Amino acid sequence: MIIAVDGPTASGKGTIAKALAAHFGLPHLDTGLLYRAVGRQVFLNGGDPNDSADALAATDFPAALLDDPQLRSEDNGGWASRVSVHPAVRTALYERQRAFATQPGGAVLDGRDIGTVIAPEAEAKLFITASVAARAQRRFAEMCERGEAVTLEAIEDDLRRRDERDSTRAVAPLVPAPDAMVIDTSALDRDAAIAAAIAMVECARTK
Ligand code: DC
Repeated sequence: MIIAVDGPTASGKGTIAKALAAHFGLPHLDTGLLYRAVGRQVFLNGGDPNDSADALAATDFPAALLDDPQLRSEDNGGWASRVSVHPAVRTALYERQRAFATQPGGAVLDGRDIGTVIAPEAEAKLFITASVAARAQRRFAEMCERGEAVTLEAIEDDLRRRDERDSTRAVAPLVPAPDAMVIDTSALDRDAAIAAAIAMVECARTK
């Protein structure tokens, strides 16, 4: 069984994807991490994330980069969003994601285009979303815990800019697959969101 979990940043899709993988005993791939590694490698190369040749060159990043804690920073999220616009970068990362999705026994993948591009044949497709206000509050709490100084307004502005870029790019934009089941987590706590996701996947696999 392939489970595709798509949605915008800070929607809760990563938490839900991990919980689904544990519940159904499947391996999990956070595909955002691949784009984050490309963004980080462009930075390390002294390149420009808006330049498609610089971004493509960075898809050769060393595997060890995937363990770099810097990948998760807000700044690097912006670099990842910029490199992900280039079709050549998306093509370079396609095979790796496709191979993970189609491994025997199935898999859970989370990202932006899993249900639309990487695994359109997935048995269960979830689109996780939440209001900008709810997502900004969660991000704020996370960053506060890490001791990063930031305002709620700055986070909201950044989320809006990233949503805009991810949703309007020409190739593989962030849109729900026509057959995706949508979960809005704005008013749900972690356990309620996970329970809803498990129920939807159970339902999809009996069809
Ligand atoms: O999910 P995330 O915030 O870690 O993703 C970082 C960026 O990577 C996001 O702004 C867009 C890009 N991305 C993508 O284009 N396609 C994916 N499948 C996953 C992430």
